[in-house]
Amino acid sequence: MSTSPRGEVLRHQQHLVQQLTGETPALLLTTDAGLEDLVAAEAADRLGSAIKGGLYERRPRGFHGRVLILPPRLDPQMRNLALQMRSIHHIIEPRYTFQLAGDEPLEQIRCTLRERGMEGELATDGAFRVTSHRHGEHTFTSTDVQRFAGAGLIDRYGMGVDLVDFDHEIRVDVHNDECLVGIQWTRERLSKRSWRRYHPRASLRANVAYALLRFAKADEGRLIDPFCGSGTIPIEAAQYSDTLEICASDYSEEAITGARDNIAAAGVAPRIELEHHDVRRLLDVHAAGSFDLLVTNPPYGIRVGQGMNFFIFYLRFLHTAAHLLRPGGRLVFLAWKRGIVDKANQQQGYFKRLHARVIETGGIYPRMYVMERR
Ligand SMILES: C[S@@+](CC[C@H](N)C(=O)[O-])C[C@H]1O[C@@H](n2cnc3c(N)ncnc32)[C@H](O)[C@@H]1O
Repeated sequence: MSTSPRGEVLRHQQHLVQQLTGETPALLLTTDAGLEDLVAAEAADRLGSAIKGGLYERRPRGFHGRVLILPPRLDPQMRNLALQMRSIHHIIEPRYTFQLAGDEPLEQIRCTLRERGMEGELATDGAFRVTSHRHGEHTFTSTDVQRFAGAGLIDRYGMGVDLVDFDHEIRVDVHNDECLVGIQWTRERLSKRSWRRYHPRASLRANVAYALLRFAKADEGRLIDPFCGSGTIPIEAAQYSDTLEICASDYSEEAITGARDNIAAAGVAPRIELEHHDVRRLLDVHAAGSFDLLVTNPPYGIRVGQGMNFFIFYLRFLHTAAHLLRPGGRLVFLAWKRGIVDKANQQQGYFKRLHARVIETGGIYPRMYVMERR
């Protein structure tokens, strides 16, 4: 990673520039903004041997939610390892970037794609589609980018477009005035797990659940999620560690039924104790200090409305978490009303705050807290 001495950092930058001119193989991993360092850490764990000497760049050229890896080569082993990653949405093989300049950016995109194509190998016997993610202030939409880039590629390769049954997914992402062209390796988002049957609106993205577990260092011990909803965190926890003992509860009958379906579909039912409880009753259900880890995604209250007293809510939540966790136990959770969490924690003093950061997930910006029971 880029914690290397100066020489290493320079080599890193040089590689990066070469990559962006298409000379070095690279993979761009996409995630939720704010989780880039965690993706780099997972890539180091999983792809370590395959990218020996490979280099990383978080947020390359300011692209949020992106991690660039520069492996020595792109081979099937690299592909298989990358496809196992839990913290990412997509894997893109970037081919080149260019700056948008002038008054006709869409026309520039069309002409660039026509002239430069994919700059490298591309089997042109199938159909393709273009997908675009756009970030920044523009006078055009991502659909416009898709149309103009697609027209350029048709001119160059004569390939057909098929939005559903395609052989190549071409990514043309625009971040402010920078345009990135690449080939997407993943069809479905990797964060969309195959076990999901019950999918309420408030469910957490599985890659974010993975991130919470990684911050909790959820390798062993007893873990509880008292607001489990559709079961994302407990299921991810069962897949994260073979030895964790996992407890999950929610006060909604519908959520418990749905979580049970998801847990069964994931094949982890024997690993998870799923119970129907209101969190306010957990003081009577579980003995004090009976958990090592509490990882959860409490309601943000966005849909509950203005009537909810968040200060009281977090006071109660932290009080319950303090009861459930042993001294030294870890509490990792997401909160939307962030100043209020700190105020509640300062007033009670049960937890030492180890870390906090804002992430962007599904258009909202919760803060992730990592705390330790005093
Ligand atoms: C943001 S959702 C959790 C989503 C979950 N992580 C998932 O991926 O599906 C919050 C959950 O808290 C539950 N909840 C709200 N108040 C509760 C309470 N007092 N006791 C237990 N569960 C509660 C809701 O039923 C909802 O399922």
